[in-house]
Amino acid sequence: MKLKWQLVLFATAILSVVVIVHGDESSVKPLVKIVKGKKLCDKGWECKGWSEYCCNQTISDYFQTYQFENLFTKRNTPVAHAVGFWDYHSFITAAALYQPHGFGTSAGKLMGQKEVAAFLGHVGSKTSCGYGVATGGPLAWGLCYNKEMSPNQIYCDDDFKYTYPCTPGVSYHGRGALPLYWNYNYGETGEALKVNLLNHPEYIENNATLAFQAAMWRWMTPVKKHQPSAHDAFVGNWKPTKNDTLAKRVHGFGTTMNVLYGDQVCGKGDDESMNNMISHYLYYLDLMGVGREEAGPNEVLSCGEQEPFNPSSPSSSSSSSSLSS
Ligand SMILES: *[C@@H]1O[C@H](CO)[C@@H](O)[C@H](O)[C@H]1NC(C)=O
Ligand SMILES: *[C@@H]1O[C@H](CO)[C@@H](O)[C@H](O)[C@H]1NC(C)=O
Ligand SMILES: *[C@@H]1O[C@H](CO)[C@@H](O)[C@H](O)[C@H]1NC(C)=O
Repeated sequence: MKLKWQLVLFATAILSVVVIVHGDESSVKPLVKIVKGKKLCDKGWECKGWSEYCCNQTISDYFQTYQFENLFTKRNTPVAHAVGFWDYHSFITAAALYQPHGFGTSAGKLMGQKEVAAFLGHVGSKTSCGYGVATGGPLAWGLCYNKEMSPNQIYCDDDFKYTYPCTPGVSYHGRGALPLYWNYNYGETGEALKVNLLNHPEYIENNATLAFQAAMWRWMTPVKKHQPSAHDAFVGNWKPTKNDTLAKRVHGFGTTMNVLYGDQVCGKGDDESMNNMISHYLYYLDLMGVGREEAGPNEVLSCGEQEPFNPSSPSSSSSSSSLSS
């Protein structure tokens, strides 16, 4: 892994020399081709595969190691619970899989920065061990956990015994960056990432790249049919229907919470868990130099007044609880 990364850095260094020669402002000069009037690019390891999105700035152009460190300053302090686990490299390596599909690369640099802040806002809130009087403030403690500390069940749902049967002796408690719970969520995510998470859910707590990939897959994929992904709801690809408009579901951060957690946090006015996600998002916007004013008005930020996408069906959605609870 380390060697691989060094090779990547080495390759990037060579490409950067080419960039300096060309005087381009972005760090890696993309390869460009036009297909049916569309400009497609390939930017090497970070944005690979002839995509329109790869012609735009990629995440490492506007979100660098020091910024990741600023957002998650407390994660490696002795009292944290996943010391040495989460790092910038795993985040960027995981993001490489989704940048050609628009993660952090849609609609220009500002939208990219906002999407990274929004995604990490969800992540920070779920993995925080910050509390009211924590040093540095409660928002400085994101990525403190990578798994549920004292699960009181193994989250095996027998309704899925034909599709995602539980492996004997294995526990499907919360793990990851947008924590996975339940056999069917490990099963579905594992299928998408081509990793056998049903037999080995522990891979998520042993591999930060995989943990971030699982979270980004969730962010980029609709939870249910006829619903947008959190990504599409955020960057504006999604077209709200008349029903959505009546339900006050608009583009923005509020709807990402509605997509991922539905009635667990939305349509309930001032929900604590919802407010915690919003606070992390705004805090990260500030630290990234974007500024919280870019987040837009409350109707966009919050889902307190939205009608939930997916009214209760206890085993169908992911959990809105954080790993500490
Ligand atoms: C690339 O960024 C520009 C603005 O800088 C934006 O208009 C365009 O939609 C982006 N391309 C894609 C495919 O999102
Ligand atoms: C961690 O997961 C990534 C992404 O699935 C994979 O490429 C890598 O080989 C894994 N690392 C280890 C040490 O298993
Ligand atoms: C819109 O909402 C109404 C009332 O809740 C429902 O009967 C209808 O099926 C919905 N239409 C769509 C396209 O979801």
